[in-house]
Amino acid sequence: MKPLRIALTKGRLEKDTVALLEKIGYDCSAIREKGRRLILPVGNHEFEAVLAKAADVVTYVEHGVCDLGVVGKDTILENGNSFYEILDLGFGRCRFALAGPKGKPFYGGYSIRTIASKYPNVARAFFEGKGMDVQVIKIEGSVELAPLLGLADAIVDLVETGATLRENGLEVIETVCPISARLIANTASLKLRKREIEALAARMEQAKGDGI
Ligand code: PRP
Repeated sequence: MKPLRIALTKGRLEKDTVALLEKIGYDCSAIREKGRRLILPVGNHEFEAVLAKAADVVTYVEHGVCDLGVVGKDTILENGNSFYEILDLGFGRCRFALAGPKGKPFYGGYSIRTIASKYPNVARAFFEGKGMDVQVIKIEGSVELAPLLGLADAIVDLVETGATLRENGLEVIETVCPISARLIANTASLKLRKREIEALAARMEQAKGDGI
């Protein structure tokens, strides 16, 4: 049978994902020394790993070209969920928060607030849940700039240490929800290769409990 193919989010989650795979006994030297190769063997060719941008991990798993994926809950909330989320991996912990200029009240008044975010769907859903009408502007990176430049009243963004907010005179107004990395599975793969996928997920869950 073909090896299971797993899409890994490159960047922030990469190190912890590799550490977890190694902890459960898979040789990840091909990922560690990847050079420019894009499809990498894991262990004794038990898996093939693909390193991709977070949103592409979701796309590959939804379309079934990857059986499994490791991706942040932030990307899942923003980019739909036509797949199974099978495990909270416990790393990549941070939170979605509404943040704005320090000391400036956000709620109150009647004017429609403008919110900048890399996650417009998450931002819209958050305010819809409050029954509050807002204008959402999509920004691709360094969202903290938007209120500093006067483009937005506040942002909905990921906060990890809070350093970026602090260093730019911003503060959390409200936490939206906690975030961490998740193991996701293609719906057909989970039916056809249930045993293999569940065995891997169980080993990951056990290793994660012991601390990576
Ligand atoms: C993320 C996020 C914040 C920052 C939060 O950005 O969008 O800007 O990290 O981390 P902190 O609370 O520890 O300061 P990232 O570095 O991924 O870059 P980006 O803004 O260009 O997307």
